[in-house]
Amino acid sequence: LTIITNILNGIGYKDLHYLLKVLLMTKKIILDCDPGHDDAVAIMLAASSKEIEILGITCVGGNSGLNNTVNNALKVCTLIERTDIKVYSGANKPIHYELFTAEYVHGKTGLDKKGDPIIIDTNYKPQEKHGVDFIIETCKSSTDQIYLCPTGPLTNIALSLQKDPSIKKNIKEIVFMGGAAMCLGNTTPSAEFNIYVDPHAANIVLDSGIPLTMMGLDVTHQVNVNSKIIKSMNENKNKTSKFFGELMEFYTIFHKELYETEETPLHDPCVIAYLLDPSIFSGKKVNVRVEENSELTRGKTVVDWLGVTKRPANCFVMNQANNEKFFQLLKDNLSQLP
Ligand code: RIB
Ligand code: CA
Repeated sequence: LTIITNILNGIGYKDLHYLLKVLLMTKKIILDCDPGHDDAVAIMLAASSKEIEILGITCVGGNSGLNNTVNNALKVCTLIERTDIKVYSGANKPIHYELFTAEYVHGKTGLDKKGDPIIIDTNYKPQEKHGVDFIIETCKSSTDQIYLCPTGPLTNIALSLQKDPSIKKNIKEIVFMGGAAMCLGNTTPSAEFNIYVDPHAANIVLDSGIPLTMMGLDVTHQVNVNSKIIKSMNENKNKTSKFFGELMEFYTIFHKELYETEETPLHDPCVIAYLLDPSIFSGKKVNVRVEENSELTRGKTVVDWLGVTKRPANCFVMNQANNEKFFQLLKDNLSQLP
C-alpha cells in the first residue's frame, strides 16, 4: 500500500486524470479497410489518438484489388511512422459477386496522389495470418470488448461471423461506413459503393444482433473536403498533413467531375471520428436491410426511418454531422502525427 501511495503521490492530479482517461477510455479497434484515399485518412485519424488502440488493420478488395489495398495500408503506416501496426490481407472478392473496384475514383494503385511515392520498408510486410482468422482470434482472445471498424465492403466481417459466431460476445460495436438511408447512392442511383460491392455480407452483419452504427452517405456528404480545408490542414506543417493534402488533391478530381463541385465527402474517417467524439453525429436506431439480387437496386440499404415495416431496429443510422467539429478534430489529431 505504501508503494502504491508513493507512486500516486508522485503523479500529479493532471497526469493521474490523463492516465485514468487513457486506461479507462482507450478503445481497442480492428480497422477493416480498402485504402482508398478516405480509408487512408481513417487510418491516420485512428493512429493519431491515444484514445484508440489499433489491434490490427485488415484489408479487403474494394476500392482497388486486395494487393493494392494491402500495399496502400502499408504505405500509410510507413508515412506516419507506425510500422508497429500489423496489416493483414483478407478477402479478395465479395461472398457471391465478382469484385467491383473504383479505380475511377482512387486511381490504378488505389491511392494515386501527387508528390513523391512512399517507399515501404522492406521489413514491413503483411502478416502471414489471413485477416478473417486475425479478426476471429483477436475477438476470441480479448479480455476487453473490441470495436470493429469496417470502412470497405463488409466481406471480412461477415466471413468472420460466419466462421465463428461465438466472437459476437466480445464485439462491443460495429461502426461501419456504408449505405444510404435517404439520399442517392454513389455507385448506382440506389446503392453506396461498400454495400453495392457485397450486399450479402452487409445482410450477414445486419442480422448479427451486434450493436451497429451506420455512417452512410447521408452523413458523410456533410463532411466535405475542399481547398480551404486542405489549406487549413497544411497549417499543421507536418508531413502527415502534407500527405493528406496530396491525397485530397487527387481524391477531389472524380467528385468535381461527378458532382460538379470541389466539395468532396470524406467518408471513412467518420467511423473513427464517431469513436473519438460521438457528439459530432446524430441519428436514429431503425431497421436496415439490403437488397441483394435486384439488377436495378442491388446494394440498396432499405432504411425503415419511419418504422412502417415494424421490423426490429437493428442499426443506429447517422443522418447529421457537425462539419466544423469534425474537421477541427481531424486537424488537431493529424497534428499529433509526424
Ligand atoms: O462509398 C464510399 C465508400 O466506398 C468509402 O469507404 C470509400 O473508401 C469506398 O470504400
Ligand atoms: Ca473505404
